[in-house]
Amino acid sequence: MPMPEGDLILGIETSCDDTSVALVARDGTVIACETLTQFTIHEAFGGVFPDLASRAHLTAILPAVARVMHVIGDDRARLAAIAVTRGPGLIGSLLVGVNAAQALGLAWDKPVIGVNHLRGHLRSPDLDTQRLVFPALMLLASGGHTLLAHLPGPAQITLLGQTRDDSMGECYDKVARMLGYPMPGGPAIDRMARLGQPRFDLPRPMLKEGFAFSFSGLKSSVARLIERQPALAETDAGRADVAASFVQACLEIAETTLDRALRAHPSASVVVVGGVAASAQLRARVQALAGRHGITACLPPLTWATDNAAMIALAGWDYLAQGINPGLRADPALGLTDW
Ligand code: KG4
Ligand code: ZN
Repeated sequence: MPMPEGDLILGIETSCDDTSVALVARDGTVIACETLTQFTIHEAFGGVFPDLASRAHLTAILPAVARVMHVIGDDRARLAAIAVTRGPGLIGSLLVGVNAAQALGLAWDKPVIGVNHLRGHLRSPDLDTQRLVFPALMLLASGGHTLLAHLPGPAQITLLGQTRDDSMGECYDKVARMLGYPMPGGPAIDRMARLGQPRFDLPRPMLKEGFAFSFSGLKSSVARLIERQPALAETDAGRADVAASFVQACLEIAETTLDRALRAHPSASVVVVGGVAASAQLRARVQALAGRHGITACLPPLTWATDNAAMIALAGWDYLAQGINPGLRADPALGLTDW
């Protein structure tokens, strides 16, 4: 595909429960981004209810596109392309974004690129300011994934390991629910953990070797702890101590595995992306780890750690530069190395 004219890509992200639209320049400058969450819709279900997520995306998507385009005076000539998440994610949610992008592309005569959401997270540290340094060791920790990868260069990805059960973000969310916090639970656990003492001994599964993760045993141990001592979930002090113990275990798992991987795959930077990269404690641990190895820590700004369309638009520029367009087939199960 020849490089189309235009200095911006319009990004569209609807893979889960956030409807997001953004305009991003090739160097990662974000001109506009609007992200609408659906927490109030899903709260009663204790998790994302797929059917309601699709319906909410359908209502939100075109008005969000209109508001974001308004920022550039509706000047469509500035659009080089439209980049939309085609997977992984909830199929109904993905289809709303893909369908909207396809229709806009047809109406405005713009190329539409189907982007892998995970490649979007990967590029998130380069939004606003370019931060990625290669070769890089990357941990992607989100609500749907926990993956460890080595990136020798910008377009090369070797998957080293992933979770065998729950993702780290999912585990944060489930522990938050056990302690009575509303969605999204991760930020509440992150905040409370800073106030508590890690006085409960929780397991650190898969800590001894390899690059795989497992979080379900840790989650079940927290559930058993609260079953045995229900009063813990009834006071701020108790909740803070449970959160601190849980977060300590998660951070140790992340740090030990990253440390081992850095020894096996010498890198110029350690990169942590995905929603859990918004955790203040995880960020501090990664900075310290990078310092000990004498390398750079590449973290997305807080706004760009959780799901957003700006990272999808920036990844879209990579697809354009490399002449890759995998088409618009929505695929709920795309893997990290897929396009
Ligand atoms: O990347 P993301 O927005 O969505 C997926 O692609 O899954 O990640 C969402 C996850 C949720 O599990 C959420 O609780 C977690 O990221 N999260 C956090 C924080 N902010 C969001 N976890 C820990 N600390 C935070 N501050
Ligand atoms: Zn995500």
